[in-house]
Amino acid sequence: MSEQKTCRRQFAVQNETETAAFGELLGRLLTPGLVIALVGDLGAGKTRLVQSIVASSIDKDIEVTSPTFVLIHEYAGADLVIYHFDAYRLKDIDEFLDLGVDELFHGDNVCIIEWADKVPEAFRGDVLWIKLEITGTETRQIELAGTGERACALLGQLDT
Ligand SMILES: Nc1ncnc2c1ncn2[C@@H]1O[C@H](COP(=O)(O)OP(=O)(O)OP(=O)(O)O)[C@@H](O)[C@H]1O
Ligand SMILES: [Mg+2]
Repeated sequence: MSEQKTCRRQFAVQNETETAAFGELLGRLLTPGLVIALVGDLGAGKTRLVQSIVASSIDKDIEVTSPTFVLIHEYAGADLVIYHFDAYRLKDIDEFLDLGVDELFHGDNVCIIEWADKVPEAFRGDVLWIKLEITGTETRQIELAGTGERACALLGQLDT
């Protein structure tokens, strides 16, 4: 099997507005089948990032909250569906796979998973990892690591 393509970028944001602007930029670059694995401590800004991605790619008025208890939210636009997962409360990988991940990942939908590092085995394919690191009350380091053609094509288009 040939090696997967890999790529990396990182950005520092100074406040929530800059995180949102970054998410809006990402939202304009989504391609069908993209899987975004989000990592970061409680309150790092994972949901805030998803809100801004959904705002720019589907509709700015859609309410986006962490799907901590329901595990998955669906945001449907005219030509894009985003599935938003939260792996925080999952006991194991089987519980995650039971959500129907095989069908939802890499179809035409975009999938975004908060706490993806709780189920790392689920992310072997083409995945864009985004780690939000809390560096201060309002500052965050955003580290992006892509594996696969789709994720790296998106990273290549980021020019903030
Ligand atoms: N630079 C920043 N980017 C994002 N959020 C920020 C930033 N600075 C401060 N915040 C605040 O941090 C909080 C981030 O909350 P959010 O729900 O997005 O975190 P989360 O990573 O999804 O947490 P959880 O793991 O609990 O779901 C918000 O209250 C937001 O106002
Ligand atoms: Mg959250």
